[in-house]
Amino acid sequence: MALVSPSILSADFGRLHDEIVDVLDKGADWIHVDVMDGAFVPNITIGPVVVKPAAKAAKANGHDALVDVHLMIEQPDRYLQDFADAGAELLTVHAEACLHLHRSIQAIKATGAKAGVSLNPHTPENVLDYVLDELDLVLVMSVNPGFGGQSLIESSFRKIERIRAMADARGLSSLHIEVDGGVKPDNAARFTSAGADVLVAGSGVFKAADRAAAIAALKAS
Ligand code: DX5
Ligand code: ZN
Repeated sequence: MALVSPSILSADFGRLHDEIVDVLDKGADWIHVDVMDGAFVPNITIGPVVVKPAAKAAKANGHDALVDVHLMIEQPDRYLQDFADAGAELLTVHAEACLHLHRSIQAIKATGAKAGVSLNPHTPENVLDYVLDELDLVLVMSVNPGFGGQSLIESSFRKIERIRAMADARGLSSLHIEVDGGVKPDNAARFTSAGADVLVAGSGVFKAADRAAAIAALKAS
């Protein structure tokens, strides 16, 4: 069973609390929050002031969903503590945005959050070689980050396979490999077969006619 982390980027932000509770009521495991700064990626989204109520919603109605915050921002070290204070429990930074990636990972851990590193579609997995053992999660971008609703990039499957092989060779059985971008019920099994165990889906969940069915299909993949 895969874990499903719906991206609130495709939610109705005017009803954010109810949107989050709705997908959790319908079986989602985590809540994925896309933070964009208009510099690392062309889009601008939200900061800690919105993560705070999102994190509250993730714990509402008897739920205890992990708050999975994907930082698509330059120099993320500046804001790690603010996001952790707002309720982020997993903080994922981009390898491309960190001049001193090892230091950034240690800085995430110092906040008490779990540590993730994300790779853009063009970034080879070997940048993880000297940090993989430090990580709780690797986030493989299967689209160029910035917008929801894009089509997946085929080379993502090969990258996931290679990262899973690296993790297996080191005995890192608890390392999560999360995939983000273009994930839908009809292609999810390709990602899990390659080695992903956490599926991010924005439009694939929030825009689905039947959200419960979409989440169930993703989990079963
Ligand atoms: C893209 C974001 C994704 C996005 C996924 O930059 O990181 O989380 O919301 O959206 P879909 O699932 O619609 O491709
Ligand atoms: Zn994301």
